[in-house]
Amino acid sequence: MRVRAIGVNLFDAKVRSGAMEAVFRTPLPALLGIELAGVVDEVGAGVTELAAGDEIFGLSAGGAYAELAVASVVAKKPKGLSWELAASLAVAGETATRVLDALAVQRGEMLLVHGGAGVVGSVAVQLARLRGARVIATGSAANQALLASLGATPVVYGDGLVARVRALGAPVDAVFDAAGKGALPDSIELRGGKTRIVTIADPSAHQLGSRSRRAPPRCATSPSCGPWPS
Ligand SMILES: NC(=O)c1ccc[n+]([C@@H]2O[C@H](COP(=O)([O-])OP(=O)(O)OC[C@H]3O[C@@H](n4cnc5c(N)ncnc54)[C@H](OP(=O)(O)O)[C@@H]3O)[C@@H](O)[C@H]2O)c1
Repeated sequence: MRVRAIGVNLFDAKVRSGAMEAVFRTPLPALLGIELAGVVDEVGAGVTELAAGDEIFGLSAGGAYAELAVASVVAKKPKGLSWELAASLAVAGETATRVLDALAVQRGEMLLVHGGAGVVGSVAVQLARLRGARVIATGSAANQALLASLGATPVVYGDGLVARVRALGAPVDAVFDAAGKGALPDSIELRGGKTRIVTIADPSAHQLGSRSRRAPPRCATSPSCGPWPS
């Protein structure tokens, strides 16, 4: 594809610094970058859902910081979305989608999102609302209005969180911790157990008996990689 914008993700900075070498080896010379947006110039064998000229965004297969790059997991870019915003959505969107799938969030259920104003959290709130779920999202006092504008019931994080969430009067069906700031004990209390709680950022989860899981990246919208919901 012909690249129009790239995302400079925190992951890229970790790779660039060498901090990821133990789990993600980067032989030099290396082409960095995983998030991109641009125009299809050629499709690989077996690709039937895309054609030259399509505007897409997603993940690169071997480096995004380039004029021409090979994309792996992609979705079609809505016309109204800028190249820059599209390029910044791929990792956060894929992460949020994968966690919502792992939690099996259903229409009408109540999802608690820790860090709902963050990069991943804000995408998760919106995608959960699109699935028909109700969302309580934690954030700083300064981000309460933002959380409400995304469709969540906002709650300030920190001491007393369990009581503040309970005061809203809706049992929590699932928890997405996108902050990693020690909210797991509160989450377990609110859930009444350890099921349907996923963290992407809290290493203490292992001490609480969690299982780690990895899955291949998938399309942020559907297995057939349709357009991003607009
Ligand atoms: N960005 C990605 O694509 C991506 C993908 C996979 C995994 N991750 C990992 O996921 C984590 C979050 O990444 P991010 O990029 O979304 O970070 P981010 O934009 O910095 O968001 C983190 C959020 O955590 C909230 N927060 C701060 N202190 C908190 C506390 N004590 N309790 C609850 N929430 C608190 C902040 O809320 P306020 O702003 O309201 O203070 C902030 O919005 C990181 O560990 C990252 O490595 C990120």
